[in-house]
Amino acid sequence: MAGSTGDIPESARKLVGKVAVITGGASGIGECTARLFVTHGARVVVADIQDDAGARLCAELGEENASYVHCDVTVEDDVAAAVDHAVARFGALDVMFNNAGIGGAPCHSVLESTKANFERVLAVNLTGPFLGTKHAARLMVGRGGGCIIATSSLAAVVVGAASHAYTCAKRGLIALTENAATELGRHGIRVNCVSPAAAATPLATGYVGMEGEAFEAAMEAVANLKGVRLRVEDIAAAVLFLASDDARYVSGHNLIIDGGFSVGNPSLGIFKD
Ligand SMILES: NC(=O)c1ccc[n+]([C@@H]2O[C@H](COP(=O)([O-])OP(=O)(O)OC[C@H]3O[C@@H](n4cnc5c(N)ncnc54)[C@H](O)[C@@H]3O)[C@@H](O)[C@H]2O)c1
Repeated sequence: MAGSTGDIPESARKLVGKVAVITGGASGIGECTARLFVTHGARVVVADIQDDAGARLCAELGEENASYVHCDVTVEDDVAAAVDHAVARFGALDVMFNNAGIGGAPCHSVLESTKANFERVLAVNLTGPFLGTKHAARLMVGRGGGCIIATSSLAAVVVGAASHAYTCAKRGLIALTENAATELGRHGIRVNCVSPAAAATPLATGYVGMEGEAFEAAMEAVANLKGVRLRVEDIAAAVLFLASDDARYVSGHNLIIDGGFSVGNPSLGIFKD
């Protein structure tokens, strides 16, 4: 399926000529977004630590569309090299998707949480996007703008759904998004994030210890919106919107993808069939 751009007519493709770096692009949300971006005419750099999976994905997407780089987002030199690779390989950096993340230990007791896990989760999930934002901005400032997007989480909006480490990192990422949007707007750079509810990826299924149908049914049981289950494709579609000119005046925004879960409290029971 090399050059998998055939499904969408040229006029409907939203990222023609754009170059994107996607951290955590070898799996889950990042992988799905890489596929969707290429379908919409972008060329993508997949930056990850899963070298085999990343290289396989890029080979499938076609070397004219996708290029893999090993990048540990906690290592500043790796992040700098990944964005520089986008320019060297494809000539520009238009979209930075700071998406790599880990669930960390599924420990919900502050008494039992370890400092090592707290620091590791913050390093990958918050320091990583900070470095991605910094080095993307290095290339975008003075070069006509750009777009930076991060993957936060519903766990940062409605707390009590994940560990203290994960919750703090993802809440911090919303603050980073807002602060960076405020600073970088004058350079024409838009900065946004998405906050999805749970979708079945290795990170999420590993964290909750459930897979496949059992995972999706459990998530649907607590969801507000019934009859539809969140898929990585839904998250990739939101990222595509933010990356595209459809969102040309959207910045500093946290796009929550939760089927309305975070806006209501049904426990008072006033809505009945
Ligand atoms: N799946 C969900 O339910 C969900 C919900 C909200 C937010 N998120 C967030 O979405 C993002 C993507 O996660 P996913 O669910 O697709 O999981 P995933 O495990 O499928 O993908 C995460 C990717 O990040 C990569 N990664 C991990 N540590 C890295 C590092 N140090 N440097 C570079 N890459 C690294 C992994 O190798 C993997 O390819 C994460 O930030 C996660 O916190 C996921």
